[in-house]
Amino acid sequence: MKPSLPETLHIDIKRINREIEHIVKYDKDVPRTSVLARSVLQLIRSGGKRLRPVLVIAGSRFGCAATGSRQYQLAAAAEFIHAASLIHDDIIDRSELRRGAPSLHTQTGVSAAIHIGNYMSARVVELLSGYTADHDRFVHDLSSLATAQLCLGEYEQLRHAYDYDQTLEQYLEKTRCKTAQLMATCLRTGALSADARPETAAMLYRFGEALGMAFQIEDDILDFTATAETLGKPAGSDLVRGQVTLPVLYALADPGLEPYIRAIQPETPAAEVNDVLERIRSGDALERSEQMRRQYLRSAMQAVEPLRSHPAYGQLEVLHRYFGGKTA
Ligand code: IPE
Ligand code: IPE
Ligand code: MG
Ligand code: MG
Repeated sequence: MKPSLPETLHIDIKRINREIEHIVKYDKDVPRTSVLARSVLQLIRSGGKRLRPVLVIAGSRFGCAATGSRQYQLAAAAEFIHAASLIHDDIIDRSELRRGAPSLHTQTGVSAAIHIGNYMSARVVELLSGYTADHDRFVHDLSSLATAQLCLGEYEQLRHAYDYDQTLEQYLEKTRCKTAQLMATCLRTGALSADARPETAAMLYRFGEALGMAFQIEDDILDFTATAETLGKPAGSDLVRGQVTLPVLYALADPGLEPYIRAIQPETPAAEVNDVLERIRSGDALERSEQMRRQYLRSAMQAVEPLRSHPAYGQLEVLHRYFGGKTA
């Protein structure tokens, strides 16, 4: 069997999972048997690729200090931030499936799920503020700044639903906020926590940001090309929900498609949306999106070119390939 990403990078995934569970299991204010604790544990155990924790650990290998418990705690915190954002994202997107199972709000109700997500974000801030006596800047970046930007990105997603005048710049900025900057912050936080040089950490940030952009563009493309079964979440739903993703933006530039897309509103029947989905699939929007994705993957490698002779550079090549890049 092909080794997983953590295996290829020699990252102890079991330890990461233990640390993630530790965050909720050892919260003195939350009984383990409560609905809150059980819901969080259920979500955490429902799978997920653990990409953000992997980025923290990979980043730490660019420091001069050894990767240890502090880095694993930061990695767990990153996954907690991500998992909280998925709860809120599924509410915003009205998605009923996540990681192949019913999304949290369909089980607990929307109000409870909002609070569970809020608890998770706040718990990370509480936890990380206790990690360092001197409140290192990078800890603050992960716990507060990354979460704030993520919320802003998701808010923009909500605000621009069915907004067919959304610009490419607005799409890219929203994507950076909701997906790319957390991945970038994970790499930088890992690096700085292990005493990497600030210039190295800044390069890793740019690498992670470009990978994150490519990752979200791929997710947006897959919404047109994959099935719910392979994704573990609904496919084809971005258009139904009025999400003007990159393929939709490119399709809007085609005068033959534009009126059909603009006609999609919250009440549009599914059959009509499916017809537009088909029309978008047969145009060049997906190929153009793919080109943009490849451009981000190329710029990711360019950002870390000066690190080529670093002993941990191979980790970046593995990550790049995992995210779909082609390296020699
Ligand atoms: C899903 O992220 C949200 C996006 C940024 C597209 P992941 O694909 O990393 O989700 P899990 O954690 O593996 O389920
Ligand atoms: C990414 O956006 C969500 C977050 C970064 C929280 P999407 O809405 O495209 O993610 P999926 O497709 O639901 O996983
Ligand atoms: Mg979503
Ligand atoms: Mg998506």
